[in-house]
Amino acid sequence: MPQREDSYDFPSWSHLGEPEATTDNYRAYLLKADECVIGYVAAHDTNEHRRWDLNDESPHGDEDDTLRPRIILIWVADVYRHRGIGATLVGALATDFGCKVADVSWSTPVSAAGQRLARRLSPDGIWVS
Ligand SMILES: CC(C)(COP(=O)(O)OP(=O)(O)OC[C@H]1O[C@@H](n2cnc3c(N)ncnc32)[C@H](O)[C@@H]1OP(=O)(O)O)[C@@H](O)C(=O)NCCC(=O)NCCS
Repeated sequence: MPQREDSYDFPSWSHLGEPEATTDNYRAYLLKADECVIGYVAAHDTNEHRRWDLNDESPHGDEDDTLRPRIILIWVADVYRHRGIGATLVGALATDFGCKVADVSWSTPVSAAGQRLARRLSPDGIWVS
């Protein structure tokens, strides 16, 4: 669905079959409603980030080597948007990792909708990688 909607040229995950641990703890959190998955966030843990105040066109801030959960892709089905589901998914990722939502890192480029969500969750700027 994200590939169809936004022309993302990569799959959110490629693994099929039984779960297998990866060194970067690649994982996905899926939200189900009415027997359908209506949104998910795919993530892994990395320790190369940059600060972005979300005001400049691109991230130029300080480098950071803290291990953080990094959003690879977050997506919510169109008819379920603007109900706080995106924020809930980022919250689930942060809680599961044991950090605050503002400590999460976002993979670049961050879409316009992703930037709005990130700014609301972290008004002082975000971590990107
Ligand atoms: C980015 C994305 C995941 C956000 O999902 P979402 O579920 O709509 O996120 P939220 O509902 O938490 O927040 C979206 C907006 O709804 C508003 N909102 C949240 N709860 C609300 C409620 N109960 N009533 C009304 N509005 C609400 C938020 O304030 C926010 O407003 P803003 O965009 O003006 O800041 C979704 O737009 C999406 O899948 N986009 C396509 C893929 C994409 O761009 N992903 C990001 C890649 S980095």
